Amino acid sequence: MDKIRVMIPEEKVEARIKELAEQISRDYEGKSVRLICILKGSVFFTCELAKRITVPVTMDFMSVSSYGNGTESTGRVKIIKDLDEPVQDENILVIEDIIDSGRTLSFLLDMLKARKPESIKLCTLLDKPDRRVTEVKVDYTGFEIPDEFVVGYGLDYAQNYRNLPYIGVVESE
Ligand code: IMP
Ligand code: MG
Repeated sequence: MDKIRVMIPEEKVEARIKELAEQISRDYEGKSVRLICILKGSVFFTCELAKRITVPVTMDFMSVSSYGNGTESTGRVKIIKDLDEPVQDENILVIEDIIDSGRTLSFLLDMLKARKPESIKLCTLLDKPDRRVTEVKVDYTGFEIPDEFVVGYGLDYAQNYRNLPYIGVVESE
């Protein structure tokens, strides 16, 4: 078993998600918002956020994988599962778990923009700005974190630990 050190406790994550939802609700006042959940890491974050947004919400899901050697993304993204619905004329908010190099997301945003949404914004639970290679404009950020590999709240290490209710760091023995 790996040892997990808590980086951001559950109460803090939830309090911050509540704040983000309030900000999003204000910004989209009078409109509806389509949340685009990027599977699988963003599932927990998307659900918690969606529950607290007060403007009308619809949700869709996309699964992508970036071609790479495992630890570094290359920016070439393969769509494993596309959205079910068109996004043309919708106000779409892409929900990510974490932005690292930014390569996956910059590819994804370009692809979604080509589908002519009314507006497109980006919301991420975590951001590791020190790791950025490709610039991406983030509209809503939960927490900026140092360059450490984190798990929990949807984030995995080899598919494990997604269900932890806090953000933690794997400390291998
Ligand atoms: P990027 O294209 O380098 O920005 O890759 C972002 C993706 O890498 C995220 O959606 C995560 O799936 C994964 N990732 C990056 N950092 C971490 C981490 O610390 N823990 C778990 N997954 C991570
Ligand atoms: Mg991911």
